Amino acid sequence: EETNYKKRGALILIEGLDRTGKTTQTIALMNKLLNEKIQANLIKFPDRSTPIGKLINTYLIDKETQLSDESAHLLFSANRWELKDKIINNLQEGKIIILDRYVYSGVAYSSAKGLDFNWCLNADLGLPKPDKTIFLNLENDQDLINRKGYGEERYEVKNFQDKVKLKFTRFFNDKNWEIIKVDNKTIDQISLEIWIKIKDLINGIEKPIEFF
Ligand code: TMP
Repeated sequence: EETNYKKRGALILIEGLDRTGKTTQTIALMNKLLNEKIQANLIKFPDRSTPIGKLINTYLIDKETQLSDESAHLLFSANRWELKDKIINNLQEGKIIILDRYVYSGVAYSSAKGLDFNWCLNADLGLPKPDKTIFLNLENDQDLINRKGYGEERYEVKNFQDKVKLKFTRFFNDKNWEIIKVDNKTIDQISLEIWIKIKDLINGIEKPIEFF
């Protein structure tokens, strides 16, 4: 039996540790798509503009703010659930969605604090799954601490970032994951490598959306 699905937009995620260039690259990708007249939307997590996002923002920038690790985790997750319908609707309308962080950041950061890996993932079960996840990998992460602004927010501490990295590596062999080494590369070189990995997805996808 053959089913014909209406074409939908692709869900593309760029992941990585703090200060690895995710935001620069998601904006560059967005601009490239718009230049090619392809409809796309960029969503950055945490989305600090929503009521839940405002709580998360206070927690991140004010190191005095107390929140248990579990409740912080569930706030980050809830912040994704707030945007679930928007993501699905956009994809069904044929728009591409580019995500700057998502479920994997949620699991990696919270489990790096000591929370159970699967407990963390459970909160996000049912969210749409990216068609492609690009992980920006800084192999020599000693460079990380020299990057602009490093250390301003709660999690920007080398020892913690090492733990987060180790949690992220548990996803490295997952389907639809691509690792791009970013050490000693220019912004344009990295943009080009990302483009090569996603260009087959930009004209739409004929499979249904997958879910975590
Ligand atoms: P940002 O620097 O990309 O805005 O993210 C802010 C911090 O929040 C960053 O250190 C990663 C962390 N984070 C989590 O701990 N859990 C999550 O679910 C997300 C999306 C981010």
